[in-house]
Amino acid sequence: MKKILVTNALPYANGPIHLGHMLEHIQSDIFVRFNRAIGNKVYYVCGDDCHGTPVMIKAGQLGITPEQMIEITSKDHDEDLKGFLVQYDNYYKTHSPENEEISSYMYNKALENGYIKTETISQLFDPEKNMFLPDRFVKGTCPKCGAKDQYGDNCEVCGATYSPTELKDAYSVVSGAKPVLKESLHYFFDLPKAGDFLHDYIRNSGVIDESMANKLEEWFSQGLKAWDISRDAPYFGFKIPGTDNKFFYVWMDAPMGYLASLKNLLSKLGENYEDFVKEGSDIEMDHFIGKDILYFHSLFWPATLKAAQMRLPSHIYVHGYVTVNGAKMSKSKGTFIKAKTFLKFLKPETLRYYFASKMNSSAVDIDLSLDDFMAKVNSDIVGKVVNLASRTAGFITKRFEGKLATAPYNQEILDKAASIKDKVIAAYSSRNYADAIRTIMELADDANRYIDAEAPWVIAKQEGQEEKLQKVCSDGINLFRALITYLQPVLPEVAAHAEEFLNAKLDFATLDKPLVDHAINKFKPLFSRIEKTQIDQMIETSKEDLKQAQAQTQKKDEKKAEGSSDFEPLAEQITIDDFAKVDLRVGTIVSAEEVPEARKLLKLKVDIGFETRQVFAGIKQAYTDVASLVGRQVVLVANLKPRQMKFGLSEGMITAAGPGATEVYLLGVDSGAKNGDRIH
Ligand code: 2FM
Ligand code: ZN
Repeated sequence: MKKILVTNALPYANGPIHLGHMLEHIQSDIFVRFNRAIGNKVYYVCGDDCHGTPVMIKAGQLGITPEQMIEITSKDHDEDLKGFLVQYDNYYKTHSPENEEISSYMYNKALENGYIKTETISQLFDPEKNMFLPDRFVKGTCPKCGAKDQYGDNCEVCGATYSPTELKDAYSVVSGAKPVLKESLHYFFDLPKAGDFLHDYIRNSGVIDESMANKLEEWFSQGLKAWDISRDAPYFGFKIPGTDNKFFYVWMDAPMGYLASLKNLLSKLGENYEDFVKEGSDIEMDHFIGKDILYFHSLFWPATLKAAQMRLPSHIYVHGYVTVNGAKMSKSKGTFIKAKTFLKFLKPETLRYYFASKMNSSAVDIDLSLDDFMAKVNSDIVGKVVNLASRTAGFITKRFEGKLATAPYNQEILDKAASIKDKVIAAYSSRNYADAIRTIMELADDANRYIDAEAPWVIAKQEGQEEKLQKVCSDGINLFRALITYLQPVLPEVAAHAEEFLNAKLDFATLDKPLVDHAINKFKPLFSRIEKTQIDQMIETSKEDLKQAQAQTQKKDEKKAEGSSDFEPLAEQITIDDFAKVDLRVGTIVSAEEVPEARKLLKLKVDIGFETRQVFAGIKQAYTDVASLVGRQVVLVANLKPRQMKFGLSEGMITAAGPGATEVYLLGVDSGAKNGDRIH
């Protein structure tokens, strides 16, 4: 048994999780679930990357502290990841006492070992905001092609790279002021000092695959440069030990955040942290990252660990970017899809399966081609895997009291199902998930061909063929069991339901022992087909998100100009008697249907105990899964004067919070309240 620490890049705390992030979380989660399935012990950690100028500025724009923003964002991220069945042992944050301790410790060791230097440098400074400006916070005219409004580090029109001081008509993105050059003392990590060690480590330790090592060779041949690890106040980050007003650059505490999350987890588990981090530790440390942060992980991170005399990463697994329909994710096309938006319309395992079916160990980009996505999920999961059980389980339940046969009908095909185990394991181990899926689907094809050929629905009609019917159907169930066992790392929820149905734990180790003379439970549909409308609605909602974000920015700017806050002003004061005039009642939605002619309305029937009311509610964009509303307890304004609408009479109003459109959140009550109860 191996012990492995598995990490995923820590998402920045200033934006939502989107499908670009999900590729990696899904990739690492499959790796973790697979390793656990074959008996390895895995510590799987992640968390929010909290520091830096963008986080500080975004919090400022929202009128909250960075700490408050982190609280909100990391909860939101954690929720999204759980929604995709990504099972971190700990979702923590870099703004934590553990991380301050670890990064300071590593810095102090690097200082002690001669890796830290200082130098005074000149940098652009915003004289209005009194802050130094990172390259991305300076804009101006490209010095090469003259394109306006280009970032301080490169031009998106002609692709030129340059230093921010070369921009013409430069301005600060934060205040609009003209930046000035200002000198400041900076702290540097001496990366060239670690050059020989890094080269040997990259080439000879097996930490990274060859194509990535070759990529890194380009950087080695250009010559490594000292790395600027300090930032001046105001900066949201940790103070550099021994300084008054210098802060660690965000990347000087980001990968350290992996260890901070681990340390926090181990303290909860009562396990030893030193064993993981000591030089030469035999516990694996595997990082999953995107190719955009290769430099930080394969050069800076091992160099800072080395300088601190700590253990090194065992593997750095690099993946490519996500494209949608063959192009970069685009907000205006609605293909910049947030995790939440996806989950509103589609099941998480659809994406897990599709990404897995395309992912190998290389860093090539993965295209989410939406038509192919729908076709593949429907054909493979529904058509080939689930269908196998649904075509055979009914006979076992109805004709054999749920009991599987005492022996197989076709031992050969069951042997074949067990025999692909090594191939599947090898594919998952090397992160060639596409190979694993291909192998599993070949078995699914064989299994379906076998069932088609034997045709249990025909045998069922023949006299005296009971034994054969039971055996063939049992083979079908055992083949289904094998398929789901192999797919368990990818489809954990389907697998959990399959375990209930099979009345048995799925386990790689017992694949060669089919279930015989074994009682199964009644089969319930495990997965439903993706409909095109679900995808269309997801894209439409993503477009709406953009429009809403634009409208909100505009509103905020207007409010800022007026000097008012983001919150709706409080209404005029009322007395308790005024409140008592509003008769709020608990009710249960008993039916919900779309009003096809109305963009925003749903027609609801609400049972308020003593009668049922018809209500037209403007919640269509927020509650697209209309059926899921049925059965929910809500709060109804019950004495509102009925209103005749174009579509019928509305007899009350459902209460909800939020600004409107997709952001409407229905009010509910704790369990125990009865329909008709009045709210006081
Ligand atoms: O690129 C990013 O999104 C970074 N927040 C990743 C950090 S990974 C680790 F080093 F923290
Ligand atoms: Zn240009």
